Amino acid sequence: MSFINAVTVDEIEPGTGKTIELEGQAVAVLRDDAGNFYAMDDACPHAGYTMSEGEIDDGCVECFAHGARFDLVTGEPDSPAHEPLAMYPVEVDGDVVKVDLHA
Ligand code: FES
Repeated sequence: MSFINAVTVDEIEPGTGKTIELEGQAVAVLRDDAGNFYAMDDACPHAGYTMSEGEIDDGCVECFAHGARFDLVTGEPDSPAHEPLAMYPVEVDGDVVKVDLHA
C-alpha cells in the first residue's frame, strides 16, 4: 500500500466529486451523503466523460453523460457501459483524503 495525499476533506462536499491529477493520472474522488470517500479513474469506460460530475446515490455513481451506474465498491457497471471502472483504496487521515493507485 502506498497512499498519497489527494484532497482535504473539506474540498469535497457530501454528494459531490472532484477530478484531481495524481501521478499524471486523472482520478475522480467522490464523497457520498454519508461522508464516505471513493476514488476511481476519472474517465467513464463507456465514452470517456468525467465521473466526478456523476450523481452519487445508493452505493453507485451514475455517469452524467449516458446514465451508466457503477458500483462504488466494485466499479461494476450497468448498461450502456460494459467495462468496470478501476477503483482505488481510500484512507482518511485526519482532514486528508489519501488514495493508493498501486494496490
Ligand atoms: S460516457 Fe459514461 S455512460 Fe456514456
